[in-house]
Amino acid sequence: MKISRLTRRDFIEAMLLIGLSACGGPRSGHRALKASPSGNGALGPFFAKLSQSSDKLMRGELTAGAFIKDMSARLMELELEEDVLEHWRQEGPNIDGEGDNGYRVIHARELRFVDRPGAAKAVLFYTPQGASNPPHEHHNIVSTKRVLKGSYHIRQYERLHRVEPGIIAIRQVTELPEVTFAGPTVDMTDDQLNVHWFGASHGPVLALNIVAENVLPPAETFHGQNESRGPGRYFVDPTGKADGNGVILARTIDDDAANAFTRRPLADFPSQMTPT
Ligand SMILES: [Fe+2]
Repeated sequence: MKISRLTRRDFIEAMLLIGLSACGGPRSGHRALKASPSGNGALGPFFAKLSQSSDKLMRGELTAGAFIKDMSARLMELELEEDVLEHWRQEGPNIDGEGDNGYRVIHARELRFVDRPGAAKAVLFYTPQGASNPPHEHHNIVSTKRVLKGSYHIRQYERLHRVEPGIIAIRQVTELPEVTFAGPTVDMTDDQLNVHWFGASHGPVLALNIVAENVLPPAETFHGQNESRGPGRYFVDPTGKADGNGVILARTIDDDAANAFTRRPLADFPSQMTPT
């Protein structure tokens, strides 16, 4: 049975994401895709794996970093048929993002940490050609993202310290002009690669993001327990000139300023990578 002839959305979504077994080679993805039974509680093996790993995260059996490493490896095992991607492209986003960015949550699961609620989600990112996803930091969120179609220009930054409310010190640590289906995944945790900025310079990009929210006790987050903002993405401006040590003072910016970034390619702003 060909995936392209399927029409029922729930069945298609159950089939879209297939996690391969540890011994699966690149071609076994196609076999798994075509051989998977329908139903399965509307969850493919990939979502089942996401549930298992997020359970371990919840129970403290996996650190946030280990969870992201695990899910990144699972993302890189995915092999998707062209018509699956075409289905997602035609379906399009159902959540408006900044500028022309759009999103679609295709799986969500509530998590319950000891003293706080959390969530694990699979989210499709739609970035039209010429659009950028504005630079942002993440508070108490961990995520990994794989490009499924197209190519992102990506910059990642490490957060160094809080300077004052609304300003963080960051350092650019990657300049990746072509991130495609071949990888790498774009990973971040509260303490690593937490700020990023990406744009679709050459054509539209479709990417799949796995995210877990509120994973840390507030006191263990970069911003600490007195932070009044909830877990989420917060836009920052990383384009101020770096000092001699590569340190950039990045201000939190409002939605208008973030929207302005969506209309500019990253290449409009010089990379501030420091020689290592
Ligand atoms: Fe992000």
